[in-house]
Amino acid sequence: MKKLTIAIDGPAGSGKSSVARVVAQRLGYLYLDSGAMYRALALKALEHNGLALTSEKELEALARATQIELEAVPASLGDPTVHNRVLLDGEDVTQAIRTGEVAQAASRVATIAGVRAVLVAAQQRAGLQGGVVMEGRDIGTVVFPCAELKVFLEAAAEARAERRWKEHAEKGEHLPLGQVQEEVRQRDRRDIERKVSPLVRAADAVLVDNTAMGVEETARLIILLAHEREKELAAGLGGTP
Ligand code: CDP
Ligand code: CDP
Repeated sequence: MKKLTIAIDGPAGSGKSSVARVVAQRLGYLYLDSGAMYRALALKALEHNGLALTSEKELEALARATQIELEAVPASLGDPTVHNRVLLDGEDVTQAIRTGEVAQAASRVATIAGVRAVLVAAQQRAGLQGGVVMEGRDIGTVVFPCAELKVFLEAAAEARAERRWKEHAEKGEHLPLGQVQEEVRQRDRRDIERKVSPLVRAADAVLVDNTAMGVEETARLIILLAHEREKELAAGLGGTP
């Protein structure tokens, strides 16, 4: 069977990372978290004291001068899903990029066209071989517009914020729910309203609302869709999904 390129896009907390990881693992595909690249660049910008997050020229230059790699980490007994190790100029920043501050900064640097051009090119190189599940905001629209399967994951805003809040709590960070809701809301708005590659469902993406579904159920649905696409392609019905 031909290996597919699967694009999963959606707003914060819609389940992209957790679902994409399970899908990639079950299909034996490469999992790539494009958001981690924006987060890594944002971390570097934050560490460069004085580099304003709105300084377009400087941030584009920083993107060009930065090496960001996503290393596939296979499932293990300790962690039964595949994930990505994130290397920023060779340094492991996998954990350091998972803070609220970095998330907000990532959504700021992601509004800059020159930054996106650099990171999109890197993402296209990483997924060139196919057999990949890449998740983000513009994968089905910009990075892989010819992906054989595109999914737009949605969930109610309250459910998404609650999921994020729970995640923080599990890490021992007890933030007020209202604060997490506001952070998610601000980031979504920035992603939807930006001029370059805004968060939008590709016309040929399957809309999956998983407000009332768990990670496993959502992943199973996407795997079914992937098998359907494989069969269509094998039968020569190549058209859009
Ligand atoms: O990557 P994205 O921001 O879209 O979401 P995520 O990081 O995959 O999911 C955020 C949290 O929601 C994780 O803790 C998931 O386990 C949880 N989740 C859930 O409870 N039910 C779903 N259907 C999807 C995700
Ligand atoms: O996991 P979560 O959905 O919270 O965010 P993420 O996927 O780690 O992405 C962090 C930020 O990077 C997003 O809020 C977007 O502003 C940006 N991003 C983007 O613009 N395009 C992508 N393909 C992926 C992320």
